Amino acid sequence: MKTAVYPGSFDPITNGHMDILTRSCGLFDKVYILVSDNPDKRCFFSTEERVSLISDAASHLKNAEIAVLKGLLADFVSKANAQAIVRGLRAVSDFEYEFQMALANRELNPKAETVFLSANSSHTFLSSSLVRQIASLGGNIAPFVPDSILSKVMEKFGQSS
Ligand code: PNS
Repeated sequence: MKTAVYPGSFDPITNGHMDILTRSCGLFDKVYILVSDNPDKRCFFSTEERVSLISDAASHLKNAEIAVLKGLLADFVSKANAQAIVRGLRAVSDFEYEFQMALANRELNPKAETVFLSANSSHTFLSSSLVRQIASLGGNIAPFVPDSILSKVMEKFGQSS
């Protein structure tokens, strides 16, 4: 069985993440959506909220399973018996950071192979931070997050749907 891990902050999950996740579920038998719970990185949504949003957004993907990452990604990959780490690339500017992470993860776990998937061109500008900024300034985030979580995300920013 081919298993992949798709790690991220998902603060919140966007249509860009959903695009990469859906592609991954088509390529692997099982995909762990791994929600980072790093105390050094303060997220706007709590870990529980991020998990709940993903669970609403990805309920139709039957081979996807949500997990929370507390330690090293490379360790989770070996415990899950996964063959690959999936990361999405939007633009060349993503590459340096992603390449560094891929090499570090392979150093920590030689079996951890990182697979980069290119985002759909309509999502290349999209990021969670952009969604947070637009929502916090009262803008319309409907085009950027899955319909199934729109009202919950808006609520968090004090917007009504
Ligand atoms: O969505 P993000 O914030 O770009 O995701 C970054 C993430 C969670 C994939 C990365 O910070 C990570 O893997 N953290 C886990 C800790 C770890 O293993 N660090 C060493 C990897 S270089």
